[in-house]
Amino acid sequence: MSRFVKLLENFHRLPFEERQERLAQWCDLDPQELQILRGVNALPIESAEHFIENVIGVFPLPLGVATYFEIDGRDVIIPMAVEETSIVAAVSSTAKWIRKLGGKITTESRGRLIIGQIQIPRVERPDATVKILNQHKLELVVEANQVIPGLIARGGGVRDLEFRLLPREDATGRMLVIHVMCDPCDAMGANLINQVCEALKPLVEELTDEKVGLCILSNLVDGRLAYARVELPIDEETGRGIEEATQFAKTDPYRATTHNKGVLNGIDPILIATGNDWRAVEAGIHAYTSRTGKYQPVTDWKYGNGKLVGEFLAPLAVGTVGGVTMLHPTARLSLKIMGITKAEELARICAAMGLVQNLGALKALATVGIVKGHMKLHASNLALAAGATDDELPRLKAELTEALAREKRINLSRAKEILEQLRTH
Ligand code: MEV
Repeated sequence: MSRFVKLLENFHRLPFEERQERLAQWCDLDPQELQILRGVNALPIESAEHFIENVIGVFPLPLGVATYFEIDGRDVIIPMAVEETSIVAAVSSTAKWIRKLGGKITTESRGRLIIGQIQIPRVERPDATVKILNQHKLELVVEANQVIPGLIARGGGVRDLEFRLLPREDATGRMLVIHVMCDPCDAMGANLINQVCEALKPLVEELTDEKVGLCILSNLVDGRLAYARVELPIDEETGRGIEEATQFAKTDPYRATTHNKGVLNGIDPILIATGNDWRAVEAGIHAYTSRTGKYQPVTDWKYGNGKLVGEFLAPLAVGTVGGVTMLHPTARLSLKIMGITKAEELARICAAMGLVQNLGALKALATVGIVKGHMKLHASNLALAAGATDDELPRLKAELTEALAREKRINLSRAKEILEQLRTH
């Protein structure tokens, strides 16, 4: 058994202190960092005041870790900030299952470029304007890069411009959209690209004698994709069941939406834990999965020759510098826990996590169903909500778990009923 697996054995059953101790060992965390994870100075009000307006406090979420992941041959503990019961447990047990069966999780990043849009809403001379812009492309790129000397110094910058002529939806002519393609290095790049687009506006207007409208990034970042793949030797029944579940999602957008929600159950908590803009990633993934005109699942699973193969491919424009990532103490620690510094590494971990989270959900749905595992873990929440005291909690949880096995369902009124019985006996 490797040191990593030994360290994580029965992690969920350990007392909190020991979990922290083991994490500290693996990730080399000092006592002050462990305090931050406990919520002490996790986000000082002075920092929060810089992030947003009208601050009246901070909003804590549980921070868990997904265990057992080996991605591209590297063991990694993945922090997840999330409120939903069973997400962390499900993904950890799926990663453990993949490891046990000798499965492989591999990832790639495909492309580095984000997109900024400069819109000419009603282009008067479409072809001539595109021609002029093509002739002055180099000049425009040079001008753009003058706005972002810091990024140029880090090896990034605007690489290309693309010109898209689109028929207006109201059928009153054509729209020209200039795409400014930029490598933001380890930043998510929204602020950079917005500045570049606004700075280019006067030159575009001067060169073309056309009127520019909006200047803003696009969250459909299809030039910066993350890919993940899982290969897993499993039995035919489970494998075919998972493949069939994917067919359901491919056929029916109502199912595809829930399928993708399950994928995002894995990705969003990492984005939150690292201070990334999860709304941007969500918008990008949903738009990308609709690119054929029909909303599709963001993952695909196929079974053949005793092997299940799953793939994820979608835009994942995340940052490890800029934004609040480096300013938020817990976000900084989350990167340290994963042992990464680069945006590309973070995107690839997100892709792998989304795929494995999805596998866990599909495996349950295609076999025993989702309710059993979920409600078992939900018993703690119900026990708390029913009003159990610290002393009563373990007993009520045990009784609820038994009731679930017997009656196949539990809910808050049943939890209250059992608590009442415990108190009167
Ligand atoms: C619940 O948060 C997520 C699932 O509904 C995902 C799915 O159905 O694939 C279980």
